[in-house]
Amino acid sequence: MKTTMQKDTLLKAVKNLTLLVQEPARPEAQLLERAGQIMSELVQTDDWLDDEFARPHPQFYQQYLLYGDPLDRFSLVSFVWGPGQTTPVHDHTVWGVIGMLRGAETEQHFSVNDQGLLVATGKPGTLQPGQIACVSPSIGDIHQVSNAFQDKTSVSIHLYGGNIGRISRHVFYPGTNQSKTFISGYSSHVSSNLWAGPRA
Ligand code: FE2
Repeated sequence: MKTTMQKDTLLKAVKNLTLLVQEPARPEAQLLERAGQIMSELVQTDDWLDDEFARPHPQFYQQYLLYGDPLDRFSLVSFVWGPGQTTPVHDHTVWGVIGMLRGAETEQHFSVNDQGLLVATGKPGTLQPGQIACVSPSIGDIHQVSNAFQDKTSVSIHLYGGNIGRISRHVFYPGTNQSKTFISGYSSHVSSNLWAGPRA
């Protein structure tokens, strides 16, 4: 059962993010720091996400829209990884903050080498519940994310500086200079009700 107070966890984050993007433009590093604080607080507890938005698919990782700013200044999405599921190598084209809610995920960064080919950079990192990570075109925007577990579901909450489901971005093929554009959309036609109150 989720109480009103528990549901307010998400509403509080949406309120704080709305206040943040209303402020005068600031350097991206400062924006990411502030957004990271809000996201860190959001994933410190795992009692607020409705089951509908934590449901894995047997084949495909899921991306459920939790909230989309009407002016497309930010969006909040729950990513649900079934056992062993992984993304293609992809970019975002906007800044983003990832907060780990449940389970764990691994992240491998990629960059273009001197020959113009996309290669993995650094070792894969693992994100544990309560931890956050950032992406953006200015600090590294190409990565591949996987469920760290082969036997259970993982859930992370993603904040992006745009409506990520509507943005045209890219899938890449490591070892080549090839990419293709895609628009991810969302896995559900409904989003979370921030004002639902207690649930039975
Ligand atoms: Fe990503």
